[in-house]
Amino acid sequence: MENKKFDEIKQLIEIDKNSINDLKEVNDLKVKYLGKKGLISELNAEIRNIPNEEKREFGQKVNEVRNLFTEFYEEKKNELEEAILNEKLAKEALDINLPATKIPTGSPNILEKLIEEVEEVFMSMGYDVVDGPEIEYDKYNFEMLNIPKGHPARDAQDTFYLEGEEILLRSQTSPVQVRTMLEGKGEIPIRMICPGKTYRRDDDDATHSHQFMQIEGLLVDKNISLSDLKGTIDVIAKRLFGEEVESRFRPSYYQFTEPSVEVDITCFNCKGDGCNLCKKTGWITVAGAGIVHPNVLKMAGYDPKVWSGFAFGFGAERLAMLKYDINDLRVFYNTDLRESKVFDRKDSD
Ligand code: DAH
Repeated sequence: MENKKFDEIKQLIEIDKNSINDLKEVNDLKVKYLGKKGLISELNAEIRNIPNEEKREFGQKVNEVRNLFTEFYEEKKNELEEAILNEKLAKEALDINLPATKIPTGSPNILEKLIEEVEEVFMSMGYDVVDGPEIEYDKYNFEMLNIPKGHPARDAQDTFYLEGEEILLRSQTSPVQVRTMLEGKGEIPIRMICPGKTYRRDDDDATHSHQFMQIEGLLVDKNISLSDLKGTIDVIAKRLFGEEVESRFRPSYYQFTEPSVEVDITCFNCKGDGCNLCKKTGWITVAGAGIVHPNVLKMAGYDPKVWSGFAFGFGAERLAMLKYDINDLRVFYNTDLRESKVFDRKDSD
């Protein structure tokens, strides 16, 4: 009778073997055979009712059926698990023939790049690069630069006032000259440039902007003359625009320098023959400059009998426009990467 039961279970296992399709069914089978009330577990429980002398043989038969099932169970389970894994791997396969995703990179702002170039030239001559506030006192922006209240020179530098008439957005980087001299306390020589933003009340168009950048320069030492300024300007002109470029001074007027000059360089575009860039003159104006006015030295604590100096101010956009052949100032302030990239390429040619 017992043998019959064993055979039945063996047959059942054979049938189940062929009807299995997925992992869940395999696990259900485990419950069916080996679970608490499973067919094999029940057989096992019966051992209690078997006479002692038959127990051994009975036990062996139970083991036989259990092995038959577990063998099939393990095999089927592994087979199905492997199939699932393979399917997953096939789905996630990497196609190494695909080109990599391009990560867009930025490009240096062309104006910043030019300023860095200028900084490097001056640093190589021992200059410090200093910073000053864009929100400035009237005192530093005008008065201590020898431009008292009511002076007509203020008209050309009308700017944005923040609190009353004393605090404004600086209209030039020249106040940083005053700040640097005040820090030097009339005792130490100064060699600095200050690139920075400046503001004026202006209507924006291709060549005007309410916000623009200047590169200020100041040198204070002993026995400084116009020829020191000339030599310095020559260096920067050649380094920025080419070795063949020369500079010249034309008389001018600024309140904080005496004498004052306009700095021209030979047109690197037409080499002096006359083109549109230089308005057919062969010369291009790039800066204002001069010998620091004794009043300015004195007001900032430097004794004009002991100290002398020169100062200059470049328009940063103007330099960049010349160097990169740009005819619209607004290019510097929009964020169109395509434009920066064009100049990037030009520069590395
Ligand atoms: N601050 C002047 C301006 O904005 C430019 C300038 C001229 C600066 C002569 C100087 C200088 O330092 O010496 O028009």
